Amino acid sequence: MQIDFLKQAIADDMAAVDRVLRTGLDSDVLLVRSVADYIIGSGGKRLRPALLLLVARACGYSGTHHHTLAAVIEMIHTSTLLHDDVVDESSQRRGRPTANTEFGNAASVLVGDFLYSRSFQLMVSVGSMRVLEILADATNVIAAGEVQQLVNTGDVTLDEQAYVEVIRRKTAKLFEAASRLGALLAGVDEVRETAFAHYGRHLGTAFQIMDDLLDYTGNADAIGKNLGDDLAEGKMTLPLIRAMTVGAADDVAVVRQAIENGGLTDFAPLIEVLKRTDALAYTQERARDEAARAAACLEAEPASPDKETLIQLSAFAAGRSF
Ligand code: IPE
Ligand code: IPE
Ligand code: MG
Ligand code: MG
Repeated sequence: MQIDFLKQAIADDMAAVDRVLRTGLDSDVLLVRSVADYIIGSGGKRLRPALLLLVARACGYSGTHHHTLAAVIEMIHTSTLLHDDVVDESSQRRGRPTANTEFGNAASVLVGDFLYSRSFQLMVSVGSMRVLEILADATNVIAAGEVQQLVNTGDVTLDEQAYVEVIRRKTAKLFEAASRLGALLAGVDEVRETAFAHYGRHLGTAFQIMDDLLDYTGNADAIGKNLGDDLAEGKMTLPLIRAMTVGAADDVAVVRQAIENGGLTDFAPLIEVLKRTDALAYTQERARDEAARAAACLEAEPASPDKETLIQLSAFAAGRSF
């Protein structure tokens, strides 16, 4: 499944967002520019800013703050990626060596902080206390989610509920904020704003469940990242949790050992376990279920091309291969 439908729908608005992003990277410190250009210039799907733009338009917004806030959201996303790749010790992202591989951990962490604080400078320019409140809350929830995930590392007893709690925080919260902000800018009533926030939350949850599935089943060229990073780090994601829940004793032993060793030598036998149990199919099904819930949140919205694109976006979140 491709995202041409999305790119076409928002091409002009996204070009404006890109301009805000580029200006926002400006700094008199050369290393800031080098690292920021490196990661932002390598692209990415730009799903979160696209979401904000689409929701703002679906709600009839006609100003330009949606360009600023879409850039803010992408900057926050980018800074979390810079930090995440240091924490996860990942070496590939967006089809290139990660910034930590290229520039080192210290530069990645510090430029991540720069982008993060620059995003706050930018969001203030919108002049809305409610916008600040939503983004301050979202970033705090994301940080707590990342810390919770760290605490959960290597815990083979982790259950699905604890897993979902982490991904709602670390990933879905930013999708939720993006969607809510689009609606808020347009000044819709609280019921509609909440519906869009819930849409974003389910979309982001589906998106992360698929990310966790693709870490085992994806194509490294397509996802632009190495497979097996989660296992190497001892991250108990849904495929493993499901295999632990329904697997026979020897399946459970394979998962346990793989998490404890964290080695890629365990990767092939583990994939066999994930296939033999229904872990891969189940994970895919859970992603579809979240995507369907996302789409259901838009039922009361009037028909429009932007609404259709948002529904397609939810299908993409659960059907994607990159
Ligand atoms: C990666 O997000 C981090 C997750 C929450 C899974 P994306 O897959 O949206 O990353 P880019 O921006 O397209 O590279
Ligand atoms: C997403 O988790 C991290 C953030 C929300 C920052 P992952 O660790 O699975 O993301 P990738 O796979 O590195 O992109
Ligand atoms: Mg990671
Ligand atoms: Mg991942």
